[in-house]
Amino acid sequence: MRFTIAIDGPAAAGKGTISKAVAAHYGFAHLDTGLLYRAVGAATLDGKDPIEAALTLVPKDLERDDLRSAQVAQAASRVAVIGEVRAALLDFQHAFARRDGGAVLDGRDIGTVICPNAEAKLFVTASAQVRAQRRYAELSSKGADVSLEQVLADVKERDARDSERAEAPMKPAEDSTTIDTSDLGIEEAIAKAVKAIEARLSARDR
Ligand code: CDP
Repeated sequence: MRFTIAIDGPAAAGKGTISKAVAAHYGFAHLDTGLLYRAVGAATLDGKDPIEAALTLVPKDLERDDLRSAQVAQAASRVAVIGEVRAALLDFQHAFARRDGGAVLDGRDIGTVICPNAEAKLFVTASAQVRAQRRYAELSSKGADVSLEQVLADVKERDARDSERAEAPMKPAEDSTTIDTSDLGIEEAIAKAVKAIEARLSARDR
């Protein structure tokens, strides 16, 4: 079966957690597309050219252990404005989305640009304050030396860059369902996501 679930939303909104849970629920494969941009961003911090890094990206590059850092997140959002970088990452994402057995992709432009025909689309969001708190907890539990203020500033800066760029700006697809996770626990957010997808699945089967 081919069934694509597109999950977009701003930084640290809970897309990753929801995407993994939804993929496990349906037995679908999951691609965190942010990792592709993070890997290219990390390469630029090593002095590489971003377009060259995107064109020569290999799966092993997604295994670097520094990809989740705040520095790499910023570098990712800087390379993500470059049209040639986005173009170089298209084929891989398209192939993943249409694989047999179903796929969940999460990112910023999945429902709008990468998979406009995705069978189900979610836009997962939360207030900037809540998102910063969650990311702060995640980074500091890994021993990163960051403050909540820094993380909030980082989240806001990336949101602005991601939504104001000319190429594939972050925005909800017209046919997406928005889930605001500000006041939701993880299980509640996952339940809402599955419910929204179920509605699409049954609409398709009718
Ligand atoms: O985990 P978090 O939500 O903080 O970020 P991410 O999903 O790992 O994405 C890191 C950066 O990559 C974002 O700030 C975007 O600039 C970029 N990105 C993108 O432009 N398009 C995507 N489909 C995914 C990520």
